[in-house]
Amino acid sequence: MENKGIEKVCAFLDEAGTYYLATVEGDQPRVRPFGTALISGGRLYIQTGKVKSVSRQLAANPKAEICAMSGGRWLRLTGELVEDDDRAVKVAMLEKMPVLAHMYGPDDGNMQMLYFKNATATFSSFGAEPEVISF
Ligand SMILES: Cc1cc2nc3c(=O)[nH]c(=O)nc-3n(C[C@H](O)[C@H](O)[C@H](O)COP(=O)(O)O)c2cc1C
Repeated sequence: MENKGIEKVCAFLDEAGTYYLATVEGDQPRVRPFGTALISGGRLYIQTGKVKSVSRQLAANPKAEICAMSGGRWLRLTGELVEDDDRAVKVAMLEKMPVLAHMYGPDDGNMQMLYFKNATATFSSFGAEPEVISF
């Protein structure tokens, strides 16, 4: 049941194609477009590079929020992003989105996988009650 919910969130991110990831830097929100999403071991992962400011911000404060929109519905996903250095998860990400292999490799010391902890996903649309999923 919970599993179904997390898969629904990942499917929505895939369908949207692009989502927007917000982090915190001091008292300043930072937001940027992202597109990576993967379910592995019952967790929802996103991918980034350790050299990026977004990675530095998450190391200092793991609180993050994603906003995505598709087909007249939107998703707000709130939680904490936790690093997972498991090589198999990196490989699974590269297999799902082969275009990433132009920029990242599982052993490059830069590729970073982060999964959502204490996450709440809220699907909304005009004229319908929000649907809330926790994982
Ligand atoms: C459509 C789109 C999707 C993107 N997806 C990702 C992604 O999944 N992971 C990532 O690290 N960067 C991704 N980027 C690039 C980041 O938005 C970019 O590197 C950004 O500057 C990172 O934020 P920062 O500068 O605060 O570190 C994407 C860019 C675009 C335009």
